[in-house]
Amino acid sequence: MEQNKIKQLIAKALKAREFSYVPYSHFAVGAALLTKEGDVYSGCNIENAAYGPTNCAERTAFFKAVSEGVKEFAAIAIVGSLQGEEVSGYAAPCGVCRQVMAEFCGPDFDIIVARTTEDYYMKSLKEMLPESFGPANLA
Ligand code: THU
Repeated sequence: MEQNKIKQLIAKALKAREFSYVPYSHFAVGAALLTKEGDVYSGCNIENAAYGPTNCAERTAFFKAVSEGVKEFAAIAIVGSLQGEEVSGYAAPCGVCRQVMAEFCGPDFDIIVARTTEDYYMKSLKEMLPESFGPANLA
C-alpha cells in the first residue's frame, strides 16, 4: 500500500477514536476500513453496562460497511489507547475481530496497527490469523 494512503487511513482511525464510548474500560479504539473501491468506513468501540454487548472498533467499521452492501475490503487501520491520552501503544485486533475479518477478507488483507500516522506496523490477515476457520470450510 502507498505510504500516503496508509497515513490517511490512520488519520481517519484516530478521528473515529474520538467517538469511542468507553465509560467502563476507558480504553478508546478507532478503526478505519478501506474498501476495494477506495471508500472508508470508520468505527469506534461502543461499550455497554452489561459488558457482553460491547462492540470493538473494528467490528463497528465492518458492520457499518456490510450493512450498506459493501463486502470487498483492502485494509484496516487500528489505533487504541487510554481515553483522553495520545495513543501510546499498539493495539492489535482481538481474536473475535480477526475472525470477522476472515469472513469478509482474503489472506492478503492489510492490517495496520498504529500509534501515529508516522508510527505503525502492517501485517496481513494470514499473518495475524493463521490456519483460520472460514467460509471455505462450509462451502
Ligand atoms: N477493543 C476494541 O475496540 N478492539 C480490539 O480489537 C480490542 C478491544 C475494545 C473493547 C473494549 O471496549 C476495550 O477495547 C477494552 O477491551
